[in-house]
Amino acid sequence: MNKFRFGKYRETDVMSDLIGENYPALLVLSRFGIALGFGDKSIGEICRDSGVDTDTFLAIVNLMVVEDRTALSADVRVSIESLVKYLRNSHDYFLSYRLPEIRKKLTEALDENQEDLNKAVLEYFDKFVIEVKTHMLYENKKVFPFVRSLPKDGKKEKYAAGFSKQHEQIEMRLTEFKNILIKYYPAQSTNEINSVLFDIFNCEKELTLHNTVEDYLFIPAL
Ligand SMILES: [Fe+2]
Ligand SMILES: [Fe+2]
Repeated sequence: MNKFRFGKYRETDVMSDLIGENYPALLVLSRFGIALGFGDKSIGEICRDSGVDTDTFLAIVNLMVVEDRTALSADVRVSIESLVKYLRNSHDYFLSYRLPEIRKKLTEALDENQEDLNKAVLEYFDKFVIEVKTHMLYENKKVFPFVRSLPKDGKKEKYAAGFSKQHEQIEMRLTEFKNILIKYYPAQSTNEINSVLFDIFNCEKELTLHNTVEDYLFIPAL
């Protein structure tokens, strides 16, 4: 009775197994407002208890683990309302928590003998954040409230292409920033700088997933 056939996880699977095998799914839980402490309940039970659309939840976690995203097909059903809620919370996570945290750690980790270089590094990071913020606020204000009246058919492809292009640009900037630190920042490899680099690597993955959800689930669902 699994109407959802794409990907690894089904609604009958145990939620704690999903997290044990794939801990980044914790981020998906918090964005849907699902609390921990779920015992041995299944994904479907937890979603129903929390008022979350199970298909949308599964589409996102399966998109996280699937290798061939082109296999994502018509049998993936999402609720646009749930998806928009998820995406808005995800924006909030990046803008109000993740990126400010990284900046704070970065400031603390930078080598105090590299004053000029530090200024340039932080400026670069801030520019990147502004770019992310502009994009996400545009989605919050100009895309999500009007999902029902977005361009149809012919125009949709053009719209989707513009969307993906901005995503690529954002991902590229973060990769570039990471490389500046790794290749050109002449500091000792301290625990602090490593820790902030680990955060940047993880944040890069999280952003890519966020963008993938928009490109592969949100756009086609319109
Ligand atoms: Fe977004
Ligand atoms: Fe986006």
